[in-house]
Amino acid sequence: MFEPVKIAPSILSADFMHLGRDIELIERAGAGYVHVDVMDGHFVPNLTMGVPVVKQLKKATDLPLDVHLMISNPLEQLPWFLDAGADSVTVHAEALDADGLARAIAAIHAAGASAAVSLKPRTAAGALAPVIGDVDMVLVMSVEPGFSGQSYIEGSDAKVARIAEMARAVGAAPLIQVDGGMGVKTAPLVAAAGADVLVCGNAVFAAEDPAAALAAVQAAADEARVAALDSVKEA
Ligand code: DX5
Ligand code: ZN
Repeated sequence: MFEPVKIAPSILSADFMHLGRDIELIERAGAGYVHVDVMDGHFVPNLTMGVPVVKQLKKATDLPLDVHLMISNPLEQLPWFLDAGADSVTVHAEALDADGLARAIAAIHAAGASAAVSLKPRTAAGALAPVIGDVDMVLVMSVEPGFSGQSYIEGSDAKVARIAEMARAVGAAPLIQVDGGMGVKTAPLVAAAGADVLVCGNAVFAAEDPAAALAAVQAAADEARVAALDSVKEA
């Protein structure tokens, strides 16, 4: 059955001097989540925002807060983000061993939040094998994490398809989220491959009319999803 994709605008590309205004704007435009990119200057070169920002966002919006932890020590910081009101927390497979990943997922679930695991572009889909049945969402990075405004890495859609297949094979159905270089040209590729949630930084916030830009990405992705469903039916 057709389900529209959800757009998760990344506030890394928002205007921090007018963050409240930008949040209201994406709420009215029909965003599905607020994507919060947490970077520690260690796991990735860039340093962005942390727990105090998540706390403030929680007061400012009813949209679910989708917190993407690009940090080296997620197990230590997780409880703070959960306390601050994160609705979904993503940890990176490269930051933890299999036992650490399992502990992170358990801690997120114990707080009543959704758990996601992310893969950098060069990490093989197979890294998800131990956890694919336990996560609510998988995040496929389609750029090297660290900065917004980069170009989509070709072939990321094939990785989405592989992960969707891996999940089906074990009877799991995590949402698949794609992050990096999403726009009207690239969103249809990953949506056709099985992506459910699209993170958009620059495509939304650098646009002259962010609400129209969000709607355009959503429409392009949904059209590709409908077409992919139709071709399955015909086959
Ligand atoms: C990159 C971040 C992304 C980024 C997306 O490390 O995880 O969420 O801000 O920005 P765009 O959509 O501009 O590539
Ligand atoms: Zn992100």
